[in-house]
This record gives sequence, structure tokens and C-alpha cells, in this order.
Amino acid sequence: MIQIAPSLLSADFARLDTEVKAITAAGADILHLDVMDGSFVPNITFGAPIIQAIRASSNIVFDVHLMIDEPIRYLDDFIKAGADIISFHVEATERVRETLTYIKQHGVKAALAIKPHTDPKILNDYIDLVDMILIMTVEPGFGGQALIPEALENARYAAALIKQSGRNILLEADGGIKASNAASVAASGVEILVAGSAVFCADDYRTAIDTLKNAALS
Ligand code: DX5
Ligand code: ZN
Repeated sequence: MIQIAPSLLSADFARLDTEVKAITAAGADILHLDVMDGSFVPNITFGAPIIQAIRASSNIVFDVHLMIDEPIRYLDDFIKAGADIISFHVEATERVRETLTYIKQHGVKAALAIKPHTDPKILNDYIDLVDMILIMTVEPGFGGQALIPEALENARYAAALIKQSGRNILLEADGGIKASNAASVAASGVEILVAGSAVFCADDYRTAIDTLKNAALS
């Protein structure tokens, strides 16, 4: 099943409550929340207090994508804020196993993210623990970039690894996903498509979500 996860990064930050309600009403499956620290990536967005504030706006699944160094330091904050899924980057810490375990122990789905040029073989080391794998299809840091087609190789690798593991692991791709490339992303085995600008910059959110989903299924 294909799921669309709009990224709040491209929403109107002056109207977050309205935006979260609107995207939920428009049929989004998941809300993707991009947390950036200005160190792991060259941009700063928002943190746990904002996520906690918008938690009351919707019951939609909150998929928190941490683009921060040493994420284990802040897990309690994001768990308390109401995250349903927490992704962090394999490139951001040496404490990957410990971080995955901590997230899972708190009843939250644990996901590992890899940047476009990271060797996907690293995923083998954690396939016994992850609930989701997040394949970055742009360099993390900014919305509105073009998808890097070679990154879909990583998605294909992860899809094969998941199948081989026999575990129930979600596969998500993030960055530059539009109606024009959604079919190739889905064909690489991805079931959760993150889309920031393609949804929040559209005039009608429902049409944008439906268009992406139909394109992915085509
Ligand atoms: C990039 C973020 C993405 C981004 C997606 O670092 O992780 O979630 O917001 O935005 P688009 O779909 O515009 O590339
Ligand atoms: Zn993201």
C-alpha cells in the first residue's frame, strides 16, 4: 500500500494548527516533521516544543525525521511531544543500536535514515532492529530540491534487504518526490512517499495527495 507523508517543512509556519488540520482533512496518511539542528545539516527548523504544540491539532501519525547530531540526547523530548515514528541518521551517531533500542523501548517506531551517498550495506547491521528505513533522495537540509535518481538504488537495496529479513519493516523515501517521479520511487520498493513542496505548495492539498498516490500506482 502506498502512503503519502506530506512534510510540514513547506507549510505556512504562521498557521501551523490550520495547516495540520487541513492536511489531515485532505487525506494525508502520515505527517512528516523535519527537525534540523544547523550542525548535522546547514539549516535550522523546529524542535520538540513545536511538535508538542501541534500534537493537539490532529491524530495523524507523526513521523519525526531527526537531522541532528547525537539524537539520543533529545529522544525523551520527541517521545513526550507525541512522535509515533522517530527517524535518525546513521551518519549522525556511533550509538545507532542504542538509539534504536531506546526509541523502541518507549513504544515508538524506530527508523534509520541514510543520505543519498551513504553505502546502503550499513543497513545490514541494524535490520534486526529497525521498524522503518528512510532513504534520502536529496541531500538533507532543504525542501524543494530535485530528486537524485541514483539514490533509488539505495531504495532497491533496502527493499531487497527487508524482504530477505522476513521482518515487517516500512520503507520510506524523502526528497524531491513529485507526480512526475512517484512511479519510479514506488517501483523501487518504497511504500511511504514524503512530499513537502509537491503538497504544501499546491493550491489544493487533497488533489496534490491524490495525484501523487495515483502517479505512484501507475
Ligand atoms: C529534506 C527533508 C525533506 C523535505 C522534502 O531535508 O528531509 O522531508 O522537506 O521536501 P520536498 O518534497 O520539497 O523535497
Ligand atoms: Zn524529511
